[in-house]
Amino acid sequence: MRILVAGGAGYIGSHTCVELLNAGHEVVCADNLLNSKYESIRRVEKITGKTIKFYKVDLADYEATKVVFEENKIDGVIHFAGLKCVPESIQVPLKYYQNNLDTVFVVMQLMKEYNVKNFVFSSSATVYGDPKVLPLTEDCEVGGTTNPYGTTKYFIERILMDMCKADSSLNVAILRYFNPVGAHPSGMIGEDPNGIPNNLVPYVTQVAIGKRPYLNVNGNDYDTPDGTGVRDYIHIVDLAIGHVLALNKLATGSGLVIYNLGTGNGYSVLDIVHAFDKAVGRPIPYKIAPRRPGDIAACYADPAKAREELGFVAKYGVDDMARDAWNWQSKNPDGYGEEQ
Ligand code: NAD
Ligand code: UFG
Repeated sequence: MRILVAGGAGYIGSHTCVELLNAGHEVVCADNLLNSKYESIRRVEKITGKTIKFYKVDLADYEATKVVFEENKIDGVIHFAGLKCVPESIQVPLKYYQNNLDTVFVVMQLMKEYNVKNFVFSSSATVYGDPKVLPLTEDCEVGGTTNPYGTTKYFIERILMDMCKADSSLNVAILRYFNPVGAHPSGMIGEDPNGIPNNLVPYVTQVAIGKRPYLNVNGNDYDTPDGTGVRDYIHIVDLAIGHVLALNKLATGSGLVIYNLGTGNGYSVLDIVHAFDKAVGRPIPYKIAPRRPGDIAACYADPAKAREELGFVAKYGVDDMARDAWNWQSKNPDGYGEEQ
């Protein structure tokens, strides 16, 4: 299939481009490079030996995005485009609602005009809010989001459900990611955050490379085995493969489907730190710090539905995640560097 990867230059998008190309799909990528570099696309081409047709385009701009649909016969869209920084979304909610929703509106409108029926959406475990039961199944209550970023995901899920009700020929996969980490084993592509990382793993790798003195462990008084927050970390390559499997499902005329993409295993912040101690070969310095506002104690998936219906099984464990994240960081201390 010819797949439009919206936001394909970013962290998850670039890894998914690799798996799509490896699976024999053609990739058209559209990204305004707001939070990414074109170098990621060059590297995907190097890894796979295949080419990507790239458009630098704001997907909230209807006329600009129309060119992509006009020039390419698209069979399906994977929509990664969006802003994802939780604290920033609290500061500037309108920017988040506008960008995250408008990009979906424009792409869905053009899908309608160009008769494209298959759409995969990047949602998040954040739609479950503070879980009442664990592990989380797809049937668990959603909507108790604690920040505007999470609410954009919840709203978009609802919009997609309404669209599928109105048009039974649409096939939509909502993928609720847990915590994607790690990098492609080649060390050529990986996560390249701007400024101070918000998320645990890129922060740890920056401590390991000497860019930051120590990690702040946000809270050790949660109701978890060691008191630190527990999450379901999933290797980025496993997550990327999940998108290829979701496309296969859509091709069967699935209608609307929703899947958790996680491993089903919960690891604490200190478990992750210790996995990096091993990967890096020396202890990662850390200090216990206050809880981060809005954080929950624990969150992990029940991955059974994705396993049974997609054949999705995460192959990599936390030690692989730490090894590959460190491999990327140590080979690329400044990420993709400055754009040429
Ligand atoms: P990312 O920031 O690396 O990638 C998003 C890409 O979208 C970037 O390349 C950015 O330039 C592009 N983009 C943003 N707005 C755009 C616009 N208006 N027009 C064109 N391109 C635009 O983020 P990621 O980690 O790869 O996340 C991808 C998706 O998955 C996002 O929707 C994110 O919310 C979601 N998600 C991420 C995580 C995570 O922990 N990384 C967890 C759950 C869900
Ligand atoms: N943490 C620290 N120190 C840090 C950063 C994080 O101790 O410097 C802790 C957090 O308190 C939490 C755990 O590490 O217990 C994971 O935090 P992340 O920021 O890496 O991830 P979150 O679970 O908070 O959120 C991530 C994404 C969201 C997404 C969510 C669920 O950032 O976009 O996973 O998919 F919605």
